[in-house]
Amino acid sequence: MAENMIPLRIAGVGYSLPETVVTNDDLTKLYETSDEWIYTRTGIKERRVCSGSEDAIELGFKAAQNALEKSGIKPEELDLIIAASSAPPQLYPAIACHIQARLGIETDIPAFDITAACSGLIYGLQVAKGFINSGIYKNILIVATDNNTRYLDWSDRGTSILFGDGAGAMVVTVAEDGVDDVLAIDIKAKGAIGEYIYKDNVGQNCPLAEPCPEHDGFIHMNGKEVYKFVVKILPPYIEEIIEQAGLKAEDIEYLIPHQANLRIIQAVQERLQYSDEKVITNIKYYGNTSAASVPIALAEGVEKGTVKLGKDTKAILCGFGAGMTWGAAIVRLREGIC
Ligand code: COA
Repeated sequence: MAENMIPLRIAGVGYSLPETVVTNDDLTKLYETSDEWIYTRTGIKERRVCSGSEDAIELGFKAAQNALEKSGIKPEELDLIIAASSAPPQLYPAIACHIQARLGIETDIPAFDITAACSGLIYGLQVAKGFINSGIYKNILIVATDNNTRYLDWSDRGTSILFGDGAGAMVVTVAEDGVDDVLAIDIKAKGAIGEYIYKDNVGQNCPLAEPCPEHDGFIHMNGKEVYKFVVKILPPYIEEIIEQAGLKAEDIEYLIPHQANLRIIQAVQERLQYSDEKVITNIKYYGNTSAASVPIALAEGVEKGTVKLGKDTKAILCGFGAGMTWGAAIVRLREGIC
């Protein structure tokens, strides 16, 4: 970090999950599949899904409250809200604007959403870091919230088995002790292979112009190509980010990866030669919660005692998803953040 930059502290992390559980066995009511098929290919046994009026705003709001509580920073002390989501119930107002209102903030702080799918938390952290390092804002709330189950084609068994709903949030602020909690961070995108995962907006052209092609509004995914691409790029990419932080894999306590497919996680684990205790997974119970999966895994891991926070606990956070986008960060996890 350049000398004149203001260091960032991760102050609080929280999460929220809907109550309704859908198991692999439940899915056999929708199409021909089996718990064995899904579990062996993905590591997923069940997922949480929004029900009734629950949506990404509601989940994000609860996660935000949780993270703010941990951080000791009051909603009215925030300078910026960034929400990362690929399943907003409305394109506008942004989820971040809804959450500003739900938190009762009356100071007109800026609030906007970013679309980086399952890399959303890492993208959000990179954006927040820029604002903090440069001194533009001090207290920033990042909310990663997704409700992809509302936009799935529930007859597409290759895609709908994977996703679950949930939200995670992170509060970042200025590190008064001068120690930056982000040791390295990087984000990437390759738009040329964007067709691997996409969701069209539904709309129509002006009736006086030629009609546009019809779209279904569902999430479409070429699972095989996504799998091949991620398994190829992710392990060396994680090694690069560790090097960028000036560290070795063994200097880092935990790998807290995006929970998309257990086999993808294992490919990174093998490359880093990490024991199971160092790799935090909860995909078995929540499936792929998209942008929310990294903060959920972190905060729930602390809650369950699988992530132990210490004076200098370090973790690799990484995400990848539609865009295609990907990103990783090496962060310091201080005691009391979740
Ligand atoms: N149950 C039973 N059979 C299924 C099935 C299901 N849920 N889904 C697909 N099949 C069948 C297919 O119809 C196909 O049958 P066929 O050979 O007779 O045509 C066969 O299983 C293989 O399908 P395929 O799509 O090639 O499976 P796969 O081995 O690629 O596994 C995924 C599918 C989705 C599990 C896997 O590709 C994957 O996890 N990819 C990564 C996706 C990802 O991580 N996305 C999120 C990124 S953020």
